[in-house]
Amino acid sequence: MSNNPTCDIIFDPDHWAKYGAPHAAIDKIRAQSPIIWYDHDEFDPVWLVTRHQDVEFIGKNNELFLSSPRTVIHNPKGYVSPLVGLPQLDAPDHTDQRKAIQAWFTGRAVKNMEKRINEIAVELVDKMLSTDTCEFCNDVAAQLPLKMMCELLGIPEEQEPTVLQLARDIFAAADPALAKTVNSKEGVEKAMAFCSELGISRQKNPTDDLASTIANTQINGELMTIQQIASHLLIMISAGHDTTASAISGGMLALINNPDQLQKLKENPALMDKAINEMLRYVTPTTSFVRTAKEDTEVGGVKVAKGDDLCIHFSAANRDPEEFENPHAFIIDRHPNKHLVFGKGPHVCIGLLLAKIEMIALFKTLLPRISKIELDGTPEYVKSFWVTGLKKLPIRYELA
Ligand code: HEM
Repeated sequence: MSNNPTCDIIFDPDHWAKYGAPHAAIDKIRAQSPIIWYDHDEFDPVWLVTRHQDVEFIGKNNELFLSSPRTVIHNPKGYVSPLVGLPQLDAPDHTDQRKAIQAWFTGRAVKNMEKRINEIAVELVDKMLSTDTCEFCNDVAAQLPLKMMCELLGIPEEQEPTVLQLARDIFAAADPALAKTVNSKEGVEKAMAFCSELGISRQKNPTDDLASTIANTQINGELMTIQQIASHLLIMISAGHDTTASAISGGMLALINNPDQLQKLKENPALMDKAINEMLRYVTPTTSFVRTAKEDTEVGGVKVAKGDDLCIHFSAANRDPEEFENPHAFIIDRHPNKHLVFGKGPHVCIGLLLAKIEMIALFKTLLPRISKIELDGTPEYVKSFWVTGLKKLPIRYELA
């Protein structure tokens, strides 16, 4: 039961599974009011924020719109999450802990990863093109970001399937075809146990990997607690690959569905940066986060009370007609393209450069080697309204 049947569609995992993102419902809500109060039986109420300028305003104003105590819309009422990673923190803890991790994802650090990312892309594309069909989500899109994140963390290759499953148990908890747990609470607990063990092992035997940095970083002269360390590692083993995989497979489907855009990109490889940005906007794998108003305030001219939660909906902002001309069209050289796929402000995604470089590596390796690409079955979407995307993309292709 809720107070708004249109919002119910936006937060209905079955709708996402059957049709993908519910853009018609989102457009309807955005046209009604800048922010809409959504009260649902299963989770605490929120203001749903759908306009680009309001989502950006809230993201940038982290002193007024706090990340704690609530980060996501869907946790059941009364549930206290064990997570205390960057998305859950506010300054000054957020600033200190982010600084420690950020060094791994600066422009220079990611540039140093480029050679290895390209090698993995070539291996995957060689394998993909050794046959004329594949299931692109699992065979290709999931593999590059997963392998790269495991290598950064120092997780051995044989544990890659475990890491993939842990991410699915959190993000695709409602999808029995992907998750092995009954709900995301159980998924988070399982992943926290894995990450605690990883953190403890790196405290005992530190190496030069990202997991060792996280496990041994001192903040104000003290090591972080195991709960903090595990929370930071949990984002890496989940958001650190699954989101990029969704962007790659969703981007591939957008190219297949828009052959003129695919052709334009093949003829103008210099458009790759712009094309990747458009894929990201069009797919928007992480659909929303939640902030809490620290004081009485206003958003889009509507009064918001101290303590109210606001769901900043990136999928909605990224199709706002006030910001994007023809927002539902996939235009690889769209300019300007100020999408909010990675959020904005102090919590902007730490891995955005890595995600982009992985996407570029894959598409720039694959596209010149194929002359024709088409669907070989029906694409299937993950049953989830939060971190979401395709779970099956059967395709066939011919070599160039
Ligand atoms: C296409 C891929 C990705 C998408 C769509 C994505 C999206 C997002 C979004 C929307 C946020 C929240 C921003 C906010 O609250 O304002 C976020 C935060 C974050 N992302 Fe990503 N992300 C992606 C890839 C990655 C990768 C590869 C990593 C691994 C390094 C990563 C690590 C993080 C972390 C640690 C945060 C928390 C930052 C903070 O709160 O300070 N993400 N991401």
